[in-house]
Amino acid sequence: MSVIRSKILGVGSYLPERVMTNDDLSKMVDTSDEWIVERTGIKIRHIASEYEMTSDLAVKAAQDALGKNHILIGDLDAVIVATTTPDRTFPATATKVQTQLGMTRGFAFDLQAVCSGFLYAMTMADSLIRSGQVKTALVIGSETLSRLVDWKDRNTCVLFGDGAGAVVLSAAQGDGTVEDTGILNTKIFSDGSFGDLLYTTGGPSYSQTVGTIFMNGREVFRQAVGKLATAAEQVLSEVGVKSDDLSWFIPHQANLRIIDSTAKKLGLPLSKVVVTVHHHANTSAASIPLALAEKVNSGEIKKGDLLLFDAMGGGFTWGAMLARF
Ligand code: ACO
Repeated sequence: MSVIRSKILGVGSYLPERVMTNDDLSKMVDTSDEWIVERTGIKIRHIASEYEMTSDLAVKAAQDALGKNHILIGDLDAVIVATTTPDRTFPATATKVQTQLGMTRGFAFDLQAVCSGFLYAMTMADSLIRSGQVKTALVIGSETLSRLVDWKDRNTCVLFGDGAGAVVLSAAQGDGTVEDTGILNTKIFSDGSFGDLLYTTGGPSYSQTVGTIFMNGREVFRQAVGKLATAAEQVLSEVGVKSDDLSWFIPHQANLRIIDSTAKKLGLPLSKVVVTVHHHANTSAASIPLALAEKVNSGEIKKGDLLLFDAMGGGFTWGAMLARF
């Protein structure tokens, strides 16, 4: 049966130049390299300069994806930017990215699902492509979370970093089997009753301020592994794929212990798990495309590889996606 698939044409990334180490943080709050590495796996994170906004990071990641793969701006029909840290409340960061890329047609919008934002945005782009509304979509996860962090709160300031990753998706014919190239299945979920476990203390309508990140880390941790594993299992079982068939597991990069526990629950060996949290920290919506780009650039992810993506974030939102590269 002939079907339309959303094929990955290219991936790109951008990390700000400035690196902040755990030792740098230990001069700002009562923490240590040992504590941060043991509890999270994080060693360093990149921090945007005061002149860099989320749109700047997004444009650089997009140019990397487009340039390396010889994709023309004129071929893009849509831009979706998944972000929790837009340049401004409005207009959408995506419309700024559209203009900065020199794109004069199509449409652009932001999507807010915190750390699951990239998987939500890929799901939206896949639906637009499969419905025939767009042929080629640029999906970006871009964050300047350093602007939302309370740098005096050791519970949260050690966890986050800045960066951007981009993926270009385009319509391709498939046979409707899991041997097809492109997105094979996605599942997204949310449950707002968990909203008070992870949130910002401000917002335009709530307080006319931006606020800073609050997190009940222990409770978020407790919920994360179960939700991540269930979403992944559902995405696989719906299309009859076993975890043994996977080439790579690319989870949201929040905490090494969450990643390890989820992989274990799914029966995946650590050799198939992509881990970048040690040098990116948690970059929210940017973490999955950054991790993907790193492994594609190194040549470890190859054409034909079967990839499982998995994420969870504030809301709670969560989801999983299966794709053949
Ligand atoms: N340095 C030193 N000590 C610290 C630090 C720090 N940076 N932060 C907290 N502590 C202390 C606490 O104050 C506490 O001290 P106390 O026992 O005297 O009260 C002690 O360490 C233990 O704190 P816990 O919160 O129990 O530590 P835990 O082992 O749970 O680790 C962590 C905390 C790393 C935040 C963990 O709970 C976690 O990773 N949770 C999930 C977070 C996450 O993944 N969030 C993102 C998912 S969604 C998204 O990406 C937006």
